[in-house]
Formats: sequence, structure tokens, C-alpha cells
Amino acid sequence: MRHKVTLLPGEGIGPEVSAATKRILEAAGVQIDWEEIDPRASGTAEKGQLLNTAAIESVKRNGVALKGPMATAVAGGAPSVNVALRKTLDLYANLRPVKNLPGVKSRFDNVDVVLVRENTEDLYSGLEHEVVPGVVESLKIITERASTRIAKFAFEYAKRSGRKKIHAIHKANIMKLSDGLFLKSIRAVAEKFPEIEYKELIVDNACMQMVLKPEQYDMLLLPNLYGDVMSDLAAGLVGGLGVVPSGNIGDQAAMFEAVHGTAPDIAGKGLANPTALLMSSIMMLDHLGERSAARRIESALEKVYKEAKHTTQDVGGKATTAEFTDALIAALPQH
Ligand code: NAI
Repeated sequence: MRHKVTLLPGEGIGPEVSAATKRILEAAGVQIDWEEIDPRASGTAEKGQLLNTAAIESVKRNGVALKGPMATAVAGGAPSVNVALRKTLDLYANLRPVKNLPGVKSRFDNVDVVLVRENTEDLYSGLEHEVVPGVVESLKIITERASTRIAKFAFEYAKRSGRKKIHAIHKANIMKLSDGLFLKSIRAVAEKFPEIEYKELIVDNACMQMVLKPEQYDMLLLPNLYGDVMSDLAAGLVGGLGVVPSGNIGDQAAMFEAVHGTAPDIAGKGLANPTALLMSSIMMLDHLGERSAARRIESALEKVYKEAKHTTQDVGGKATTAEFTDALIAALPQH
């Protein structure tokens, strides 16, 4: 079957890892017509606008996108294109599976956890203002609607993928109203899934437990900010952001992206590791129903990492992006 997918190659190393991923998917025999487009509005054509309208329309039309990283200015400057895309397309569920990859050195070898992060509200609502000089306010928005739909997403995902246990992560002991509503909404959903064990943990304790005994976690369900922090923490347990994928999923569209940034220090040097975007594209293939190609790419990826002859510098190897990509294509099982 042929698929139409929007490709947002991104900035920095984005175009390099996107090109590598495209080559591998093609070599695996997946038939994709890519609609390649820059999600950032060009200054003159769409003055004052952050997102390229044509890119949004393309994702809405195709329902699926693969996205490379986009740069965001720190403290001031334009808001994040990444956050704007998720909001505009209402991609409310951020799905981040974190699992050891054979051959990648890490402190633990038994991590297999899926984090589900609410993607649209909390402190990411962008509602900040100066009250008086020297005092600023940043609003944390939690709604019953968004908390309930992310809970439904997580429990349905658990059921579908054979996961057994969900921990909701919160700080409702301090933020009694906001995190309290998050928990209350989840509890109502959890009751409808008696086959999934449901537990709650305060975020600081959850972080400590994560670096002590990550194997105790099966799935975590988190509001936006804790989800952002804990998913990078979890990635660190298996070798870092270069080896973990992510999906941003909504009812109308899904966008799969690497969680690392644009890596300006190595951009354009042919050194970037495409693994994270490739793993995200494997999630995308599963979403598209291309399970056989997804498993073949997964098996080639494991082989390349087990052999450890053609891995990139960020994971202790010496290979360039092109050498890694060639090795992966050579390792693809025949179909
Ligand atoms: P970063 O992830 O770009 O880089 C951190 C370190 O990891 C650097 O040493 C980099 O070389 C390395 N690295 C990252 N990805 C790699 C890969 N695929 N292969 C090899 N090495 C890799 O994080 P940083 O420096 O904080 O952010 C740079 C820019 O990226 C910022 O403008 C930030 O806003 C943006 N960013 C975008 C994201 C997205 O589009 N989803 C996510 C995170 C950051």
C-alpha cells in the first residue's frame, strides 16, 4: 500500500537525519510519497505568523507526519514551533517508549517503560505576563477535558499493547487544585479499566525511583511539565536522546519526531545519529499498519547496534551518518 506522509525535515541536523531515515524506509520497501515542507512561516509571506499554513494543511490532509527538530530561542524571541505545531494540530498525547537498545552503554539494562505526557496545557499554555516590574506570573492550566482524554489514551494504549500497570505522576500535595483535578480525572477513567493496575506517585519520589529501580515502571501518565522532564530522565537511563523515539498523537493527525534538538554543534558535519528519528519512523510505520517493515527495520537496527562496528560518535562509535545508514540498509532482512 502507498502512503502519503508529510515530512518536516527540521533544522540543524534535521535534514541529515531525515534524509537517512527516508533512505532506510525506502530500502525496506515501504512505499511513501513524501510531502516535504518547512513548518516555520517564512518572514515575508506570512508576517507575524509562526507556522507555515501550507505545512499545517499538509499534515491535516495526510493525517501523518515525520518531523525533524526545530530550534527555539531561550528566554525571549519567537515561541517554539514545536509547541505551536502540537497545539495547532491538537496532538494531545505525547507517547515516549523508552527501552534499552542492545550494545548502547547505559547504567541499566532492564528499562522498558512507556511515558504518556499530556501535550496541550499545564505550564505550556504560554500564558505569562509581568504583574508589576520584578514580578511575573506564569499560568498552569489543567482541565478535566484534557486530563480525561489523555487518561483514556493511556489506558487504551495499555490495553492494546499488553501493558499491565500505569503510574500517574503528580504534585497534588502542593498544587491541590490543578494536579488534584488531573488525578481526579484519571481515577474516573482508571475505574473503567480494572485489568490495568493503577498507582499514583508524587513527581519528586517518582524521579528518585526512576534512577534507582526503573524496572518497576511499566507506563507513566504525566501532565505536560513533569512529562517533559521525566521523559528525558528516562531517556538518559538507556543512553540519551539519540536513541529514543516519540509520537505526538491526536484524533485527526499523528506526528512522529525525534526528541533530541537540532544539535548545532555537529550540524552539517555528517556526524548526526539518525537512530531516534528512525525509531520514531518505526512507530509511524506501526501507526500506518506497516508492521512487517517496522519489525524488519527494528531487527536491522538491533543488529547494527549489537555488532557495534558502524555506530555514530554520540554512542561511542566512529561511523558517519552515511556509514551508519549504509550498514543499516545492508542489515535489513529480506522480505
Ligand atoms: P540538542 O539535543 O540539540 O543537543 C544536545 C547534545 O546532544 C549536543 O551535544 C548534540 O550534538 C547531541 N545530539 C543531539 N542529537 C543528536 C543526534 N541525533 N546525533 C548525535 N548527537 C546528537 O539540545 P540543545 O543543544 O539543548 O538544543 C539545540 C536546539 O534544538 C535548541 O534551539 C532547542 O530549542 C532545539 N530543540 C528542539 C527540539 C525539537 O524540535 N523537538 C527538542 C529539543 C531541543
